[in-house]
Amino acid sequence: MNNRPLTAKINDKGHLEIGGCDTTELAKQFGTPLYVLDELTVRHNCRQYVSTLKSKYPDSLVIYASKALCNTAILKMIADEGLGADVSSGGELFTAKKAGIGPEKIYFHGNNKSRKEIEEGIAYGVKFVVDNFRELKNLDEISSSMDKQVEILFRVNPGIEAHTHEFIQTGKIDSKFGLQKSEVASAVKIAKDSKRLDFIGLHAHIGSQILDIDPYLIEVDILFSLAEGAKELNLGGGWGISYLGEEVPPVPELLEKVIGKVKAKKNFAPRLVFEPGRSIVGQAGITLYTVSYVKDIPGIRKYAMVDGGMSDNPRPILYDARYDAVVANRNEAPKITYRVAGRFCESGDVLIKEIKLPEIKEDDLLAVFATGAYNYSMSSNYNRVPRPAMVMVGNGKAVSIIKRETYENLVEEDLCP
Ligand SMILES: Cc1ncc(COP(=O)(O)O)c(C=O)c1O
Repeated sequence: MNNRPLTAKINDKGHLEIGGCDTTELAKQFGTPLYVLDELTVRHNCRQYVSTLKSKYPDSLVIYASKALCNTAILKMIADEGLGADVSSGGELFTAKKAGIGPEKIYFHGNNKSRKEIEEGIAYGVKFVVDNFRELKNLDEISSSMDKQVEILFRVNPGIEAHTHEFIQTGKIDSKFGLQKSEVASAVKIAKDSKRLDFIGLHAHIGSQILDIDPYLIEVDILFSLAEGAKELNLGGGWGISYLGEEVPPVPELLEKVIGKVKAKKNFAPRLVFEPGRSIVGQAGITLYTVSYVKDIPGIRKYAMVDGGMSDNPRPILYDARYDAVVANRNEAPKITYRVAGRFCESGDVLIKEIKLPEIKEDDLLAVFATGAYNYSMSSNYNRVPRPAMVMVGNGKAVSIIKRETYENLVEEDLCP
């Protein structure tokens, strides 16, 4: 299935294997819940973007939207594949620096960057994607006081409704993000009048989990109409992945169509930037849970209770996101419908509303697929439950890239005056 890591298979013991590692062994060694990330899938996804662009539109850059999953090891791997990073906070910037990503490949996003974050970005020399006039003013003042030049793009709201869940769209006119199209010209004028700011282009991000190429082609038209002569156009991220086995046009097809549209414009040929997040890491991740027991409410439903839930994966409770799963320790045909519920004190803490699985026994291992993006990065300590560990798997080896939190970590910042 296309919602699983590329290395996923059932081994001779009938266990799910990822990156050559038996998931039951991973659960024994590292405990559950456990995030597992398949190195090969992440690298493959990076290469799809980088190699298509290299051959079809060399004046381009892919920057990984680190909000999808941010950790030093992952950013190092992404840098190793030639990608830069989109950061939207001082913390993401700090991680990107620590991973060795050069400032020329970092773009600083966000609709409310603090003065401190702006100073940190300028000091490192990154590019800024300016969201509003207040930020423009702050940038001008701070760059002057630091005596530094700053390259900027403007985030513009192109007003495209991409086909996706309403709560996770950011590209609509009624959005907190970006300038209105009508504001672009005056923002560009302010930037051009500034001694410290170098206007290089425009950025737009039209939504999330988009499975349709057309909105990107409209986005190209709009950005071209607004950015006559700009050096650079950043088309954002948003390309979708398969969660339940749905068909997703391959990334090269998306890029080739977008590039075709850009090349057909004869007035100017900007550098192109793409900033995918989910489509780099989403499919590469699975989460392993132990099912502690099954609650059977006769005539109503069967609940399979797992040892994680909304704190390690808040997407179902936030967006009604849907996931697919298998029993990882036994290869049997699905026959019973379960609701997979988490362990947190919210009735809505349900990971999967309905799924057919083999008959669940106590202590079975459940693998939930396509959890690589916006799971760990949106996780919390709700109910003071420590966050799970994350391991990267490849060639039969598993290395820990995020330690499991401890109770001590939970109270570390507590003060008792
Ligand atoms: C500005 C911007 N760029 C890129 C992304 C990455 O989007 P995705 O992970 O859907 O590719 C986001 C996600 O919200 C975003 O806001």
